[in-house]
Amino acid sequence: IHNVIFESSKEASILVAHELANLIHRKEELNEPCVLGLATGSSPIKVYEELVRMHKEENLSFKNVVTFNLDEYYPMDKNNIQSYHHFMHEHLFNHVDILPENVNIPNGTVSAEELQQYCIDYEMKIISYGGLDFQLLGIGRTGHIGFNEPGSHINSGTRSITLDHLTRADAAPSFLGIDNVPRKAITMGIGTVRNAKRIVLLGWGISKAEILKKTIEGEMSSQVPATYLQEHNNTTFVLDTEASSELT
Ligand code: F6R
Repeated sequence: IHNVIFESSKEASILVAHELANLIHRKEELNEPCVLGLATGSSPIKVYEELVRMHKEENLSFKNVVTFNLDEYYPMDKNNIQSYHHFMHEHLFNHVDILPENVNIPNGTVSAEELQQYCIDYEMKIISYGGLDFQLLGIGRTGHIGFNEPGSHINSGTRSITLDHLTRADAAPSFLGIDNVPRKAITMGIGTVRNAKRIVLLGWGISKAEILKKTIEGEMSSQVPATYLQEHNNTTFVLDTEASSELT
């Protein structure tokens, strides 16, 4: 992995958004779809803000972009304001010219019987586009990427998982209490993410410092799933000063 450290997450996010815009332009010239893997949560918000600004002020078009989101709570209704479906529309999709049919977000309403096949189909759909050109990630305090909690296999694909207690505790404030946080989620796998041609992980703030030290300097292990990025040949960790403060 290669780390870059910025004083402000805003400045860093703008640079990441510019890399994305360059990729979108390059793919447009090649007349190929630009296939993006996207994350929710607090970490990517400023990247989406800058992409929206570039769409409005600089004619950046998403007509050629196909997106796959990493994860969704399960069960979860699309219209629920806690859903990642809602988050993505609020922060990005409602403000740009992406075609609705090119937006893919795991569906938190599939039945228990259909769930396994649904996950296989999600994975196959990513493969049908030739894989992800770019995957944007945040990191959870358990070391999860997507919702690949400790114990996740290096070659895992899209599947349903049980959320860690710490992950549910971190989500509790926005759900007005831990009892309201779903116990499960659908997530792309570690293998799905690692197949991306380019990966950028965003880490901001002191609360991420300890897990980022383990992820970057620790031994590769399923106990810290993000360590599996150590062996990916085109991954950059974009951090702010606080998040990088435990690195040696
Ligand atoms: C979200 C996701 C998660 C988050 C992680 C960090 O789609 O896949 O792995 O990136 O939980 O969340 P924030 O950015 O809110 O600290």
